Amino acid sequence: MKEIRIGMLGCGTVGTGAARILINGAELIQSRVGAKLTLKRVADIDTETDRGIRFEPGVFINDAWRVVDDPEIDIVLEMIGGKTLAKDLMMRAIENGKHVVTANKALLASHGNEILGAATGKGVEVAYEASVGGCMPIIKTIRESLVGNRISAMTGILNGTCNYILSRITDEGVEFETALAQAQAEGFAEADPSLDVDGFDAAHKLAILNALAYGMEINLDDITIEGISSITPMDIAFARRFGYKIKLLAISKHRGDSVEARVHPTMIPFSNPLSNVGANLNAVTVTGDAVDDIMLYGYGAGMLPTASAVVGDVADIARNLLSGAAGRIPLFSYQPDRIQKIPVMPMDEIAMTYYFRFAALDRPGVLSKIAGILGDHGISIKSVQQKGRQSEAAVPIVMMTHEAREADVKAALSRISSLDIVADRPVLIRIEDENGDEEM
Ligand code: HSE
Repeated sequence: MKEIRIGMLGCGTVGTGAARILINGAELIQSRVGAKLTLKRVADIDTETDRGIRFEPGVFINDAWRVVDDPEIDIVLEMIGGKTLAKDLMMRAIENGKHVVTANKALLASHGNEILGAATGKGVEVAYEASVGGCMPIIKTIRESLVGNRISAMTGILNGTCNYILSRITDEGVEFETALAQAQAEGFAEADPSLDVDGFDAAHKLAILNALAYGMEINLDDITIEGISSITPMDIAFARRFGYKIKLLAISKHRGDSVEARVHPTMIPFSNPLSNVGANLNAVTVTGDAVDDIMLYGYGAGMLPTASAVVGDVADIARNLLSGAAGRIPLFSYQPDRIQKIPVMPMDEIAMTYYFRFAALDRPGVLSKIAGILGDHGISIKSVQQKGRQSEAAVPIVMMTHEAREADVKAALSRISSLDIVADRPVLIRIEDENGDEEM
């Protein structure tokens, strides 16, 4: 039986999971793939920590370059993360004609076009199912299963940390900081959580999905990104009254010559299945002209769910090697010469419905002043709620709008926030609701 040799760079959480599945599931995988997949080398700077795996003598080393330069290794698993050493090692592996499997969305979102060029030039595969949505097979779904569809939109909960935090605020009414501390205590958030809570991780994933779905060059820089740190229990409670949940969504829509691409907290109706995706789970809906909507759901992080996707990629490459079909599926779904530079639509031009919350003094004429400014900017109000009655302190006034343009909304809110009857900055949360502009 043919043997395919694997070298792994980094043996942290995902690497350890991949090694466990490859070693403990060796027979099962062999019986499905038809080749022996051997973990020949594993490199990590920490060779002391017990990973609970019995590596054969000489497998575990501390020099990653020995892995990418080893002529016997066919497939390199890049499990280091980051954009510096991981990139150098990946490029060398490609240069040496090795196929690569990675979970590194930050690297692909920032340097995917360059990696595509190098891999195409060398005729090697770069597989990255684990980079988006952990165990959910979203890359395979777009690249293979939906190949006959014109994809018009994707909407995803692509960051488990944010989903966990928002779920805690929703279920327990705690503030963001408390929910973040809980997420850190439970191991669902990093000590430095900014990549997740500020929305960057979800944007990395959206940049990758956009390339696959629309045949565009990877474009991370033009995605509008807002995180969840300003979401309060009060806004979540108001959202509930209007029939909505707040989720951090990664949204993209094909608009003909351009693509809408944004990551921000979003109100979605209870009837949207994404509103029921709780805890640290991920889910994504893809809309195609033949399938209408399909949805994937599962763990977007964690040792074994993510490693499951890594091993799936290894098996795909191994099968392609066995049948002499390496490169059968283009790296970013489209043939490289058909990938275009499709612009991301400026956020200011996008129109949607909005939730606003103003902290305003409870005096006659306040509401008409705010409504007047909104009217000046062509923003039509669908409903208004004021909570409580105070003679001196500000009270929350909440409004839902009909469809309005982002540029008009920003201009109006900037004028409203400068009114002396308005305390604090107005809160704006965007709404995604298919029936959003109908009467409530
Ligand atoms: N940090 C990510 C999340 C997992 O919280 O979903 C890896 O992409």
